[in-house]
Amino acid sequence: MIYLTRRERFNAAHRMYREEWSDEKNFEVFGKCSNPNWHGHNYELFVTVCGEPDPQTGLLINLKELSRIVRERVIDRLDHKNINLEVPFMQGKIASTENLVITIWEELEAPLQERGIRLYSLKIAESENNIIEYKKE
Ligand code: NI
Repeated sequence: MIYLTRRERFNAAHRMYREEWSDEKNFEVFGKCSNPNWHGHNYELFVTVCGEPDPQTGLLINLKELSRIVRERVIDRLDHKNINLEVPFMQGKIASTENLVITIWEELEAPLQERGIRLYSLKIAESENNIIEYKKE
């Protein structure tokens, strides 16, 4: 089995909070990420797909096509946006990287499948040290 990973970058603002909690309680639970005036991250999204190479081309997938799908479905809708306020697929969800990676999976799975591309895992690095991975099971 071949695993191919494509990296895309986006930057976005967010705030981690529950509306019904006070700023103090939000700070206690979410720390600096609960800042009421938002803050941003330079996110990196790693999309890993898997399968066997095409015997005719020797390639697993068309990388341009993968990049286009990821950009159209995800990056263009997140880049330079406020995740809490401006990203339709994150509405009503806490803007955590955990929720983000699960939601991005839902956005990508079907369009990739339509082109015969199997999604294996998604990883989001919200900083150099914090990386969250998701595999739908
Ligand atoms: Ni944050």
